[in-house]
Amino acid sequence: MIGVFDSGYGGLTILSKIRQLLPEYDYLYLGDNARAPYGTRSFDVIYEYTLQAVNYLHEQGCNLIILACNTASAEALRTIQQRDINPEELRVLGVIRPTVEVIPQRTKNKHIGVLATPGTVASESYVIELLKQDPTLVVTQQACPMWVPLIESGEHLGEGADYFVEKYLNELLEQDPLIDTIILGCTHYPLIQDKIEAYLLQTNRHISVVTQGEIVAQSLADYLHRHPEIVERISSPLRGRSGGGFLTTESATKFADSASLFLSEPIEAEHIELQ
Ligand code: DGL
Repeated sequence: MIGVFDSGYGGLTILSKIRQLLPEYDYLYLGDNARAPYGTRSFDVIYEYTLQAVNYLHEQGCNLIILACNTASAEALRTIQQRDINPEELRVLGVIRPTVEVIPQRTKNKHIGVLATPGTVASESYVIELLKQDPTLVVTQQACPMWVPLIESGEHLGEGADYFVEKYLNELLEQDPLIDTIILGCTHYPLIQDKIEAYLLQTNRHISVVTQGEIVAQSLADYLHRHPEIVERISSPLRGRSGGGFLTTESATKFADSASLFLSEPIEAEHIELQ
């Protein structure tokens, strides 16, 4: 079984694409909705919460866990990989590396914009990883602290959200008007992708907007192709639950209602406590 973790609903944008490409596996999704957003929290807290989630999913029988959260990937992944897990038993993968790998082929003029949570921006992970791909890229970041709260509260499709969509896009493009590629560096943001693209079009900007779902799904498929031993481990869980499902630290009904909308299918969820 594969575990998919996010602070809240955002990871569902990754899960849906992974399931489409790799329907043969069971997936256990965990959203720490009661403690979202992570993006405005400190490094120590993000690390601690992410580690709790990883341990929980591992106990449930997940031997491969995708941190479907840029903030957790930026702030906690490396430490967890190096310090907290035994790779013979558990692999934990993030979403930033696969995303940056495709960017050099997507940009024409090498001016890249990154929209992300304050935590991801402060970590500089995107800047560091993009420059590793191509040191001549010009990378500009913009933190969007209001977007995750708007999405988690279900207010993202209303007119009120337009103000913050325009505000952060303007702030990014004022920093570098030449940007031709924008990375939505937070897995919640595809839920407002239509608003983002509509505003860019309205202001006559021809910018390609990169979302992570398909990129992460393809990268996971390649990873599993290279690692048949992991395929064996995730295909035959020796312990824990089987069949996958949805877990949340918030109310199960609240999560199921919103997640069903995001995934366009009815789902059932279970409440859990992380500590
Ligand atoms: N989906 C998470 C990400 O990709 C949002 C983090 C948050 O809770 O602020 O960064």
